[in-house]
Amino acid sequence: MNKKFIKKKLLISITFALLSSQVNANKFEGLADTPPMGWNSWNTFACDINEDLIKEMADVMVSSGMKEAGYEYINLDDCWHGKRDKNGFIQVDSKRFPSGMKALSDYVHSKGLKIGIYSDAGDKTCGGKPGSNGFEYQDALQYARWDIDYLKYDWCNTENLNAEGAYRTMRDALASSKRPVVLSMCEWGDNKPWLWGKDIGHLWRTTGDIIDCWDCEVDHGTWSSWGIMRILDMQDGLRKYAGPGHWNDPDMMEVGNSMTVNEDRAHFSIWAMLASPLIAGNDLRKMTDEAKAILTNKNIIALNQDKLGVQAFKYKVAGDIEYWFKPLADKSWAMMILNRGDKDKEITFDWKEEQVVDEYFPIEGKKYKTNFSNSRYQITDLWNKKQTETTHKALSVKVPRHDVIVYRLDKIVVANKH
Ligand code: GLA
Repeated sequence: MNKKFIKKKLLISITFALLSSQVNANKFEGLADTPPMGWNSWNTFACDINEDLIKEMADVMVSSGMKEAGYEYINLDDCWHGKRDKNGFIQVDSKRFPSGMKALSDYVHSKGLKIGIYSDAGDKTCGGKPGSNGFEYQDALQYARWDIDYLKYDWCNTENLNAEGAYRTMRDALASSKRPVVLSMCEWGDNKPWLWGKDIGHLWRTTGDIIDCWDCEVDHGTWSSWGIMRILDMQDGLRKYAGPGHWNDPDMMEVGNSMTVNEDRAHFSIWAMLASPLIAGNDLRKMTDEAKAILTNKNIIALNQDKLGVQAFKYKVAGDIEYWFKPLADKSWAMMILNRGDKDKEITFDWKEEQVVDEYFPIEGKKYKTNFSNSRYQITDLWNKKQTETTHKALSVKVPRHDVIVYRLDKIVVANKH
């Protein structure tokens, strides 16, 4: 290799290092070290939103105990928009939001909550409202004037756009407005955002839209919406891309909408185990006690919010039964037994024959594994809130149809005998 060539290579590496350090500097860090938790208007209200509705949701988020359980964001989805003013600044729909977005934002903040907004990388949003294409910096500035904390950025009407470039532009625009904003990338997994999104946004949708059914596809012609089991299966292979600050997003939840209590419990547990954002999508004002109990189960939320930030993995499949494990920061494990099928099932799990190894994580050289024949764990059932057995004898339990059992496994330290 001659000197000139070495010099050239060095120059390229330095330029690249400088460019990539700039890239990292642009994303607001520390805003989503654990998966974001909140509420979003779309799943129940679609375009039919207004300021009173949003204020009521903020009120109920506090009075229901959801805020106390960790929910933080009140997110407006599509259709809050009016027109752009003569200088190009986006305005709210003044009929639906007569007090303006700043007043709404102040109200949400006065409740100790944060507020999110929605836009689209194309010329128009999915609901036909003005998109941000060509107005990214002005929109980011407007959101900052309104004290917005979270932006869901959609992907309708983007035929000639490059996804990575478009999301990067909005990230840079938000950075230049200086107000820390969580960037939720919503391009449905079409351009594999898990491969390039880590330095751009805090979460990225992995699938098309969710719908409140256990295992269905609803065909809308050019696109489909998907039930809980379909969305779960679409997460295969993605877990290694998620971690603190950058999460896979299997969409906002349908808990409390039309599914059975068992299905809602399973749906919520799956989202918790997948370290997915927990964004409720039901009418909080009308939720049943069962739906509230599911959404505010602090033991299940703790699995989701665990500092290690590692997604669960599918350990074993036996017919309709799936066994999932999630390593936790304090060296305990979460375990979920999912019954996808239409019949209740009695299962037996002989711990002594099982060795659980998390293949994707060595994180920083650490390997997460346990061999149940050497280590003993206390088993706590997180839905029935009781400590059952330890892992010294085989587990036998009935898992109802379309439901889960979720355990926390805490290692029992045997005292040294002297
Ligand atoms: C897309 C998104 C949904 C919702 C609608 C709004 O379909 O995936 O989550 O935001 O647009 O129009």
